[in-house]
Amino acid sequence: MNIKHPLLLVTSVAGLLVTLSACTNLVSSRDVANPEVPAKVVAAQVCSNCHGITGESASPAFPKLAGQQKDYLVAQLTDFKGHERSDSRGTQYMWGFTHLSAAQVDGLADYFSSQAPMRGKTVAGTSLARGEDIFRNGIAENGVVACATCHGPEANGNGPFPHLAGQHLSYLVEQIKVFKNTDQRPRGAAMKQVTHALSEVDMVAVAQYLESLGAK
Ligand code: HEC
Ligand code: HEC
Repeated sequence: MNIKHPLLLVTSVAGLLVTLSACTNLVSSRDVANPEVPAKVVAAQVCSNCHGITGESASPAFPKLAGQQKDYLVAQLTDFKGHERSDSRGTQYMWGFTHLSAAQVDGLADYFSSQAPMRGKTVAGTSLARGEDIFRNGIAENGVVACATCHGPEANGNGPFPHLAGQHLSYLVEQIKVFKNTDQRPRGAAMKQVTHALSEVDMVAVAQYLESLGAK
């Protein structure tokens, strides 16, 4: 009998044990209720399932977070955690994260805000020009203030003003409706003012324009 075989066996069993114990650590680190779990691990193991590992969510069901403003991310995570942002999908998907510590919230906001900014999409539509006009100039006769005033000339946002360029169209339209029709987003007073006279057609036009912005 070749003496090397049992040795190989022992070595591979030891290897397996190392692998198993590594797996066990990995599994327990999924316990996001533990405030000691680093934000990066939470991002990779939990948030990435919906928002993508780089914050570039593939499905329009989930907003992109890549390159989002850090202050804005901290504010939203704090509002979900405190059950203050109460729009229906936020309630359904984000209200469970009540146990994130302030340090984890800060780390998660750091993680996603430092990713390469969300990418735009080639959007074919005749309303792009209308959308750009609303974004840059607003609609004077309806008192709709130019979006660029707060969200920046390239819609990259600034601090509490979110980055909008390249965000999923359906998410943008949904949020505009939340601001216009409800008080479910507690920091939405400025947006309520802006959107109260925005028609459905114009909401879609400006959201199409926003989704088309940014690197493809
Ligand atoms: C099961 C899917 C799911 C998971 C997991 C998830 N999210 Fe979300 N998240 C959503 C959905 C859906 C929304 C949109 C809610 C809405 O429409 O108000 C959202 C919204 C957000 C927003 C607001 C975005 C914006 O532009 O206002 C932030 C920030 C966010 N999530 C961060 C996170 C972080 C950080 C984690 C991990 C701790 C996480 N999410 C885990 C589904 C998820
Ligand atoms: C006076 C400043 C101001 C103007 C003008 C403004 N916004 Fe906003 N917008 C905000 C603020 C502040 C927020 C974040 C509110 C919050 O934290 O809930 C926001 C949030 C949003 C969101 C939600 C983004 C997300 O990730 O959930 C969308 C969409 C949006 N604005 C679109 C627009 C559009 C389109 C226009 C132009 C028609 C516009 N905004 C004009 C201040 C402004």
